[in-house]
Amino acid sequence: MHDIHVIDPVSRIEGHAKITLHLDGEGQVEDARFHITEFRGFEEFCRGRLLAEMPGLTARTCGICPVSHLLASAKATEQVMAVRIPPAATRLRRMANLGQIVQSHSLSFFHLSAPDLLLGMESDPARRNVFGLMQAEPDVVRQGIGLRRYGQEVIAAVTGQRIHGTGIVAGGVAEPLTTDARDTLRAGLDEALAAARNTLELSFGLLDRFAEELETFGTFPSMYLAHGRPDGLWEHYDGTLTVIDADGGVIAAGLDPADYREVLGEAASSDSYLKVPYWKAALRDDDPRTAMYRVGPLARINIAERFGTPLADAGLAALRERVGRIASSSFLYHHARVLEVLAGLELIGELLDHPEITDTHVRAHAEPNLRRGVGASEAPRGTLFHDYEVDANGVVTGVNLVIATGQNELAMNRTIRDIAARYVTGPELTDGMLNRIEAGIRSYDPCLSCSTHALGQMPMVVELVDQEGVTIDERRRT
Ligand code: MG
Ligand code: NI
Repeated sequence: MHDIHVIDPVSRIEGHAKITLHLDGEGQVEDARFHITEFRGFEEFCRGRLLAEMPGLTARTCGICPVSHLLASAKATEQVMAVRIPPAATRLRRMANLGQIVQSHSLSFFHLSAPDLLLGMESDPARRNVFGLMQAEPDVVRQGIGLRRYGQEVIAAVTGQRIHGTGIVAGGVAEPLTTDARDTLRAGLDEALAAARNTLELSFGLLDRFAEELETFGTFPSMYLAHGRPDGLWEHYDGTLTVIDADGGVIAAGLDPADYREVLGEAASSDSYLKVPYWKAALRDDDPRTAMYRVGPLARINIAERFGTPLADAGLAALRERVGRIASSSFLYHHARVLEVLAGLELIGELLDHPEITDTHVRAHAEPNLRRGVGASEAPRGTLFHDYEVDANGVVTGVNLVIATGQNELAMNRTIRDIAARYVTGPELTDGMLNRIEAGIRSYDPCLSCSTHALGQMPMVVELVDQEGVTIDERRRT
């Protein structure tokens, strides 16, 4: 018997990823919870600020996905201003978001997940990291670094900086794209495309190697939510929301993101944890798990009929050939990311070739005209909402952010439960069990920084709790 370990409130605010596995009377895992702490201070902090400050402020809400917050914030601000931004600004923002998808997905696939995927879940933990990968698969690592860098260059060309770009502003973008910047990005595109094609081939090979994980890592029916288009093309930045059921049947389409409160509920489990969004119309017995939906790359490739670009569409068709029209295994988030990297690059190429991409009219100016605005876009990890209320003087009186990681929390719980039920067999947690659980979570690529505002690697704590609620084992990874 181990001592009960209580995690103190201070360390919780700093953002531990805490996982609790609940055992039944027979010692079998019956439930799992992935606790994500929320730093509520941020929504408080925004009250009393001027609307115009919001994009700059909220970009600092997360050091991992600032471009996503900049876009959602600028769009919410423009809703309050009741302004339409110039077409060139829309194109540049789409390009920045695609750059963000390319860089973020590349980080997730190559840096965070490839050590497990290429070296094996059971391989020596001392080598199962990016350095071990560098020795075993130097070409793969080099291509991953190149893809990520290309995505960062696209972001930098639009926003002015690689990470905390300030070039996305209310009303459009701060500066037009220079012809020099366009030509430089154009020159690097072919190499990035070649790396993405190789990665797709690699990823298809992994589906054979990880046939077991494909079945056990979060393979369950759920709804899916993402931006969708009437023409069926993949959408990542604008428009309306689509929700489909586990078989691909359309539950709702053409939903205005501004009406999210009418269709999404937010369940609060406790004051310090992230609220869990669910699809209101499906709720049964007051249990949000009955109304679970998934967001992010998997949801987007299930909702879209096609990307509308040749290479990614061939890859998507090949995937469907293999797993059916709807990809329901959360392990396929990895593959969906690789497809989105390829599509993102193809679409960046189309935008760079657009004759008006360097148009100099990139910003509209207006004052606050409405009292509320909701901005939404597809962050790499899924749909992101920023909801602002302002008073007559343009001072912010209320803020609600709904982040992708929170929306995937129910699905992550289910995934952890399924993995734990299969691999956790005794009263002690082994390294192999922890690694599978961690890999299961990593398939969602959660951004804990978004909710906790803590930067860097999160220490992960896994505790095993018996029927009486007593912690019988706990393992910590840093
Ligand atoms: Mg919120
Ligand atoms: Ni984030």
